[in-house]
Amino acid sequence: MRSVTKYPVTVLLFAFACSMASASDPSPLQDFCVAINSSTSAVFVNGKFCKNPKVVTADDFFFSGLQIPRNTANQLGSNVTRVNVDLLPGLNTLGISLARIDFAPYGVNPPHFHPRGTEITMVAEGTLYVGFVTSDTDTVSSPKF
Ligand SMILES: *[C@@H]1O[C@H](CO)[C@@H](O)[C@H](O)[C@H]1NC(C)=O
Ligand SMILES: *[C@@H]1O[C@H](CO)[C@@H](O)[C@H](O)[C@H]1NC(C)=O
Repeated sequence: MRSVTKYPVTVLLFAFACSMASASDPSPLQDFCVAINSSTSAVFVNGKFCKNPKVVTADDFFFSGLQIPRNTANQLGSNVTRVNVDLLPGLNTLGISLARIDFAPYGVNPPHFHPRGTEITMVAEGTLYVGFVTSDTDTVSSPKF
């Protein structure tokens, strides 16, 4: 009889614990992790070793050259200039990267995906047709910028 009276209390505690549960991405443990390719560092975050924060410089967060138009004389009629962690080591773990895409008239950027990524497109000149497919396969959207 004693165990019967304890059971509802256990269920109640379990239900209370479940109502308190939440899930999210873990917080970064540090403000930045400038990527280096050397294994001499002890910290390894997001697939890259972290540069010792004491020797991080402003150049680790600097990239120049996005203002330069690229050559689009290729089969696709487009040229992607990526700025990612390999070119801008300070981006490591910050969850951001960017790209400049030059299009020739009627050029295309082949279908691709960005898992768990958000993309913002700014068209500086001309008109660009962009489509995206959601994980709900019935939904297809094709905004025109
Ligand atoms: C993109 O442009 C750069 C410089 O204009 C050129 O070196 C590179 O080969 C081009 N890439 C493609 C895929 O055409
Ligand atoms: C680190 O490795 C990446 C990928 O192999 C390469 O693109 C990048 O230039 C390297 N960075 C340095 C600073 O050596």
